[in-house]
Amino acid sequence: MKFFIDTADISEIREAHAMGMVDGVTTNPSLIAKTGRRFEDVLQDICAIVDGPISAEAVAESAADLLADGLRLSAIHPNIVVKLPLTGEGLKACRELTNRGIRTNVTLCFSPAQALLAAKAGATWISPFVGRLDDIGHTGMDLISQIVTIYGNYPSLKTEVLVASVRHPLHVVEAAMMGADVATIPFSVIGQLLKHPLTDIGIEKFNKDWKKVPV
Ligand code: G3P
Repeated sequence: MKFFIDTADISEIREAHAMGMVDGVTTNPSLIAKTGRRFEDVLQDICAIVDGPISAEAVAESAADLLADGLRLSAIHPNIVVKLPLTGEGLKACRELTNRGIRTNVTLCFSPAQALLAAKAGATWISPFVGRLDDIGHTGMDLISQIVTIYGNYPSLKTEVLVASVRHPLHVVEAAMMGADVATIPFSVIGQLLKHPLTDIGIEKFNKDWKKVPV
């Protein structure tokens, strides 16, 4: 299973990358806005650290404008993946970018039907938002299970399932058990995945005992 990091914070990307936890990066307009920096500058910095797919979101309504923005973004670096909204216009832009050999990540997916359409349009990745579904009283991970089943039924569909809006370690563990291709994980959740109190207690005891070993 691949791990992408869901952040535009360069120090978080650097830290997670050093641990080998970053196969790719996803950004969105909210994450970019949080940095207070120019979008292109942030993307350049990420591309200098990570040699893997880096999602940059096209922000426009019409297919023509999404396509133009997507082409502009993909020209920044070969690792840039164009993130597109799951709308009819977004799917048109997806199809066109796919035809031109540019990778896409279709985002804001909340139903298996939407995921099927994105795959038909040739999306490289589909991003179902599990946390936001949980927020409104649906079980987000059920959607992952449905999409994995649907895509698995049709090997001609090449779209990978990228679990997004991950909020806690169980989202990642369940995604792995369901066979999702990728989870895009906030930096804080990587820390939660890492931590176990028995590891900390064990280290403390080994360090204490080590001091008793004659030198
Ligand atoms: O990047 C898309 C997604 O992961 C956003 O997550 O926490 O804002 O729902 P969240």
